[in-house]
Amino acid sequence: MLDLLYNRRSIRKYKSAEIEQDKIEKLIQSALLAPSSRNRKPVEIIVVVMADSAVSDMCTQDSSIVATILQLTAESLGLGSCWVQLRGRKTSAGVPSEEYLADLLNIPSNFSVEAIIAIGYKDETPTSYTKDSLDYKKVHFNKYSV
Ligand SMILES: Cc1cc2nc3c(=O)[nH]c(=O)nc-3n(C[C@H](O)[C@H](O)[C@H](O)COP(=O)(O)O)c2cc1C
Repeated sequence: MLDLLYNRRSIRKYKSAEIEQDKIEKLIQSALLAPSSRNRKPVEIIVVVMADSAVSDMCTQDSSIVATILQLTAESLGLGSCWVQLRGRKTSAGVPSEEYLADLLNIPSNFSVEAIIAIGYKDETPTSYTKDSLDYKKVHFNKYSV
């Protein structure tokens, strides 16, 4: 698991090769296995992850867990991925990104879209993280220390 975390990097350039159906199935299973607040499972998946705010007030957290699990599963399957933020962002034409996507994908108004997780075969190889690159200054024991 630690190896996976060191090696996973955001991939913004993909090959045109399609992802095999069995890998897509594994990605879907991993998303459906994600834990959620009070186990209410408000997140539904279109290939785009979206969550029903009427089901849980923890949609942001639950969606983020699904998104993270998807990224780690993608890495474990030899695929690249990148989080594309929607909430709070606008398109180049100034339309809120969530609104644009809701129109495009016919998403009901009770759903909010946290992010798109782009997944595909990597066409770039960013360097892996190393232990030396970790910022241990951010770690405090027992209480915050300066
Ligand atoms: C909440 C969140 C929002 C992000 N939004 C974007 C985005 O809109 N576009 C993008 O290219 N990358 C986005 N990223 C990816 C980050 O830029 C990336 O994870 C960070 O620079 C660290 O690089 P790494 O993923 O290679 O470790 C986002 C990541 C997170 C966690």
